Amino acid sequence: MRKYSYVRSSRIALAKVLLMVGFLGSSHAAVAEDTDAIGPKLTPRLQQLLTDEMRAVKQAMGHIMNGLITGDHAMVGSQAQQIRDSFILKKELTEEDKKNLMAAASPGFVKLDGSFHEMAGMLVQVATEKHSDLQTYYFGRMVEACQECHSQYATNKFPAFGGKQTGGHTH
Ligand code: HEC
Repeated sequence: MRKYSYVRSSRIALAKVLLMVGFLGSSHAAVAEDTDAIGPKLTPRLQQLLTDEMRAVKQAMGHIMNGLITGDHAMVGSQAQQIRDSFILKKELTEEDKKNLMAAASPGFVKLDGSFHEMAGMLVQVATEKHSDLQTYYFGRMVEACQECHSQYATNKFPAFGGKQTGGHTH
């Protein structure tokens, strides 16, 4: 029961974050573009912000793994929270950026980004509860989200995923 209500409230929080970032509102974008890499469609400024964001996410994931293997719940929680709240994009987007981002982001990308941030929110929750098994679980789900999004929308950066896949599973 408690979990379900948490998921609901985290969705609301997530929707707020997405609204701030400007990811919502692109649901009318063409579905046919769903498998295309998003980077080349972004303005140079947005591409730089996304790159900075991704590097920060990667670093945070490293800290989370260190937290997981040492039982450092506070480390896991604080780093997951930073990912959930999107450090850079949220802080630095201008109105112009938001418009450009909405024009480039397809519904599939927005959905993946949403579930990725939702997983980060769940990780914050289970870190607060000092629940190690569930922390490992949600960490794994986040890694899957990295792979799924990169194999569909970042094939320009990560060609090793073998091009346009829809399943997100690489083996
Ligand atoms: C919703 C989509 C999405 C998710 C989820 C996602 N990424 Fe990315 N990531 C991208 C895109 C798109 C690019 C390529 C941007 C470009 O073309 O420059 C990228 C690029 C990167 C890069 C390369 C940055 C550089 O130096 O150029 C790293 C590192 C990265 N992501 C890490 C992660 C990690 C770690 C996760 C999961 C914890 C993750 N990403 C989850 C979309 C995503």
